[in-house]
Amino acid sequence: MSVLFAGALMACGKTTTGEANYQIIPLPQEISNVEGQPFMLTSATKVVYPEGNEMMKRNAEFLSEYLHISMGIVLEATSTATDDKQIELALGLENDNKEAYRLEVTENKVIITGATEAGVFYGIQTLRKAVPLGDAIASLAAVTINDAPRFGYRGVMLDVARHYQPVAFVKKFIDLLAMHNINRFHWHLTEDQGWRIEIKQYPKLTELGSMRKETVIGNNSPEYDGKPHGGFYTQEEIREIVAYAQERYVTTIPEIDLPGHMMAALTGYPEFGCTGGPYEVATSWGVFDEVLCAGNEGTYTFLENILTEVMEMFPAEYIHIGGDEVPKVRWEECPKCQAKIKELGIKGDDKHTKEHYLQSYLTARIERFLNDNGRRIIGWDEILEGELAPNATVMSWQGMGGGIQAAQMGHDVIMTPNTYVYFDYYQTANTEDEPTAIGGFLPLEKVYSFEPAPESLTPEQRGHILGAQANLWTEYIPTPEQAEYMLLPRMAALSEVAWSQPEKKDYYNFLTRLPQLTDLYSKAGYNFATHVYDVQAKLEPNFQTNALDVEFSTLADSPIYYTLDGSEPTKSSNEYVGKFTVKEDAKIKAAAFANGKLSSKIFSEEIKMSKSSYKPITMLSTAARGYSFNGAPLLVDGLYGSSNYKTGRWIGFQGADLVVVIDMLQPTEITEVKFNTNVVTGDWIFDAEEVIVETSNDNETFETIVSEKGLNVKEEHWQDVVNHEFTFDATTARYFKVTIKSLSEMPEWHSGKGRGAYVFVDEISLN
Ligand code: ACM
Ligand code: ZN
Repeated sequence: MSVLFAGALMACGKTTTGEANYQIIPLPQEISNVEGQPFMLTSATKVVYPEGNEMMKRNAEFLSEYLHISMGIVLEATSTATDDKQIELALGLENDNKEAYRLEVTENKVIITGATEAGVFYGIQTLRKAVPLGDAIASLAAVTINDAPRFGYRGVMLDVARHYQPVAFVKKFIDLLAMHNINRFHWHLTEDQGWRIEIKQYPKLTELGSMRKETVIGNNSPEYDGKPHGGFYTQEEIREIVAYAQERYVTTIPEIDLPGHMMAALTGYPEFGCTGGPYEVATSWGVFDEVLCAGNEGTYTFLENILTEVMEMFPAEYIHIGGDEVPKVRWEECPKCQAKIKELGIKGDDKHTKEHYLQSYLTARIERFLNDNGRRIIGWDEILEGELAPNATVMSWQGMGGGIQAAQMGHDVIMTPNTYVYFDYYQTANTEDEPTAIGGFLPLEKVYSFEPAPESLTPEQRGHILGAQANLWTEYIPTPEQAEYMLLPRMAALSEVAWSQPEKKDYYNFLTRLPQLTDLYSKAGYNFATHVYDVQAKLEPNFQTNALDVEFSTLADSPIYYTLDGSEPTKSSNEYVGKFTVKEDAKIKAAAFANGKLSSKIFSEEIKMSKSSYKPITMLSTAARGYSFNGAPLLVDGLYGSSNYKTGRWIGFQGADLVVVIDMLQPTEITEVKFNTNVVTGDWIFDAEEVIVETSNDNETFETIVSEKGLNVKEEHWQDVVNHEFTFDATTARYFKVTIKSLSEMPEWHSGKGRGAYVFVDEISLN
């Protein structure tokens, strides 16, 4: 490395001095200041590794490479010790945790001692994140850092099947894992929309299965882009990537997702599907009925042959066999699958159908094959349906529940709940300015709040939680730049969740340490999301003062200026000096001004008051699980939702109606009621079926003033915020009861036909 960069040294070496900052991410367990002068790190400093240890030599070269990125200097890596002023890499730290390290800085020496070479590598990561960026000389204050990870499994999954990602990016992604002390790369290689791994015995997997003829536009809109999309990794490329990761102490775990998500494989090998095909590589997103036939013995041979080649490419103990989202409709009708069920004597019970148990049989059989070859399986939490394969590790993605259940059964668990670590979800509520994502709402703070080993488990059960992982599904992520944008800085939060001790976690402290890391992202050429640097607004309805309390903050503590009339904020606008209240309609805009210049995006929010704003409101029905947010008060807070129904501005009901009583506190004349519904039929969210408004002066006997049925039920792919407005003769009353009914049966054309739809409402205004 040093030879490679020698020319660059002259060009960019500035001789300014900066100070190291050990308050890095992930926060080390113990940072102790030590008496004495700082160590001055310069281009003359050598990195010394133990003679004859190739991994330690590579570690030394990594440090040199990293400091070149950060400081523009190149340190010589050598196994020949000089007397002093050097960085020494050493082994032999006594610690049960194999990834532990100690970093000791004194005036004359920097010593990184690891329990293993991996530990030394993490000490190197700490040092490279602590040095000042852009200065050719670093002053490292004397310190002793003792550090070790909380969890042994710290992972990120990359889906290269929905969108193929080039080899160069996969390597850059692995560099990113290393920077965040992540040690597992879960590589999702096969999908309905593309098979991306060369299997020599089955060439059609990639010849036909790696290419789809086109891709749907947006969230499964009716339109397609007409552009073929494809790509796969040769076995040679796979080996190269696995080795690249291994050098950085990252274990690559391949996933062959079976028996569902197999449309691409079936395209080349239709004989392993229940119907025999023909099949086509999927061009839209979702879960497809076409899965592998579990009644055909040939399917098992097919899978075992594929997995044999997979094992040759991937030395890791774990092979991920998927198992998620396997519709059973083909199996229910397939003579071979039904014959297999009969042959095995499989029966359904009140918990699971016989087809669920057929999947358990298939999973257990694949597990036995891999166990016999010295490997272990990981499966998505659906493998809990039916009977869990005896030695399986469960990857909990549908929230934490599956993982909790598996740990209680004594199985190992990796927590990857979609509620905390699905990095394909939106990271801001303001989705209008974002590249299209799959949906969801997962801001940085939510990721940071993730606790992988919940208190509800016993200490022994908690011991089965191997660690945490984030997943990056790429349906809506076509490019490396966008992948980076979705990963960063959320991966920084994950890193602290998986590495640091929970009692040290503090989101606001984390935020103070973040700029140093995002500056490094910039230096290293990564694209990252900057929402965390924008003006953050806390908008709290205050039912005592009948107004909205507004608080602003910025990470950088720059002055904030704001307006209330919708005009662009400038330095002559109101300067924010502390919490204020808004009592009337307002169009709030706010921005930070660092050094007198606009330095953030402009925050913008429209407040629309009505006579019912901040009036006491009582809910007489129950919101849907996960969609109640702040409850009824959000319906009278003057704040409106965007098209994203998960941000907390909308409240949702399913199989129940929204029923509230608003107490106007005194008889009040009202002539209209307004509300919006958020409709996303693809997510089972429809417009209201019926609206009833009743009035009362004693909150006991009510009189109906509005009753409207049959609001819109349009055709498929309907996604909109729908405004409803009902006017009536002036009516004076104290209590207004509003009932907004959810659609009780979804229409014939919908996949959920006959079942109850959701209804989502953001505000009810009476005027
Ligand atoms: C998954 O998100 N289907 C594992
Ligand atoms: Zn079948």
